Amino acid sequence: MGAARRETYQVLIRRTEIKNRVEAVARKITRDFKGQRIHLIGVLKGACFFLADLAREIDLETSIDFISVASYGKGKESSGQVRLLKDLDNSIAGLNVILVEDILDTGLTLNYLLNVLKQRKPKTLCVAALLDKPSRRLKPVKADYIGFTIPNEFVVGYGLDYAERYRNLKDVCILDLRKQ
Ligand code: IMP
Repeated sequence: MGAARRETYQVLIRRTEIKNRVEAVARKITRDFKGQRIHLIGVLKGACFFLADLAREIDLETSIDFISVASYGKGKESSGQVRLLKDLDNSIAGLNVILVEDILDTGLTLNYLLNVLKQRKPKTLCVAALLDKPSRRLKPVKADYIGFTIPNEFVVGYGLDYAERYRNLKDVCILDLRKQ
């Protein structure tokens, strides 16, 4: 029988820092794809707030779609397996695709998604991740646009969850689970 747990969280990245950084990433994407159309693909559900804020700061012809995969169970550890839960609504053939992720951790999810998307013949395919935890990487994948590189902590907020909770926090916070 497990002991009861008390959940506490502390702010790691404040909402103002997130806003400034999202704007900077959007400016870079706008410069890099000047004069072209881009297609943002958000990985549900964690990337929904990041995608919504990023898309509104990009000054290009932009379309969006969503994909959903299962990689984590209810807790903090990855199952190590990735499977597709919801596919894209539209074809990406010939498009400049930017895959928008909440966090790059082991890289298993991104590795899986890149393999799936590459087969669909986009014109270009790159990755924007709000957070990067490079110390946890198991697959050699990288994001082209990174919001923040963070230490090996479990974080919640601004889209990121723990057992489907905390996504609506405005700041990115470190979640601490202590046994009582
Ligand atoms: P990866 O496949 O290990 O890179 O994990 C990617 C997915 O795991 C992310 O899209 C998140 O949904 C989840 N994840 C990884 N680290 C965290 C974290 O610190 N907090 C919340 N979710 C996380």
